Amino acid sequence: MDYLVRRLRAEDISQVVEIEREAFSPLWVSTPFKRELNNRYTCHLVVCPPDLETVEPEARSVPEASDSLLSRVARKARSLLGQSQDVVESPNSIAGYVSVWYQGDEAHITEIAVREDLRGQGLGELLLIGSLREALKYGSQVMTLEARVSNFIAQRLYEKYGFKHVGVRKAYYSDNREDAVIMTTSPIHSQEYRENFQQLQEAYQDRWREICIQG
Ligand SMILES: CC(C)(COP(=O)(O)OP(=O)(O)OC[C@H]1O[C@@H](n2cnc3c(N)ncnc32)[C@H](O)[C@@H]1OP(=O)(O)O)[C@@H](O)C(=O)NCCC(=O)NCCS
Repeated sequence: MDYLVRRLRAEDISQVVEIEREAFSPLWVSTPFKRELNNRYTCHLVVCPPDLETVEPEARSVPEASDSLLSRVARKARSLLGQSQDVVESPNSIAGYVSVWYQGDEAHITEIAVREDLRGQGLGELLLIGSLREALKYGSQVMTLEARVSNFIAQRLYEKYGFKHVGVRKAYYSDNREDAVIMTTSPIHSQEYRENFQQLQEAYQDRWREICIQG
């Protein structure tokens, strides 16, 4: 397993905002991630390498008081790199994120994005699997979203997971007045959907990596 999915944390936000800026138009209204961290009607998931998860935050920085050889080497390395004591994460550790709003019976994907240089490696699909699993747990009945009519890559991803075109919102995007297609799943708790979802996840694991979602 080289990546896992987990909930967004405060320390991830700057990287997620960077990914959001890279992925969406400059006129895109940025998500207030910080404000939404404790909102029970939203769910933000990130995909990142697991080694950042298994190491406790305290263990990622070396205590100044400790005099072990390791801590002295680490202090020296940090000073050579011009880093301060409290640098705890390597840059670019968050590879992508997905944001979902729970509205009544619907789980609505508002954003999903993967760093440009990491696309095409199954990470967007892993985020979608994570958000579908969370929606099932939450008790949502269907998943919905809007996508630019020109965004065939995203639409292909959603179609793979049973999203169907159910309508169009005219001139939905304010930057170029592009239309949005509205896409929705069939009921996600139905036996048919769950069986299909199970098969897709098995195929994902055979092709890419073990699926690890930390709820
Ligand atoms: C959409 C996005 C999240 C997909 O992430 P990704 O990690 O590159 O996608 P994955 O590697 O997981 O691919 C999953 C599926 O997406 C579709 N897909 C991905 N890249 C594709 C490509 N270049 N051409 C066609 N379909 C593609 C395929 O259906 C693919 O499944 P398959 O490999 O079985 O054909 C990513 O392209 C992105 O961040 N785009 C910019 C932001 C954006 O447009 N978000 C969607 C807003 S609605």
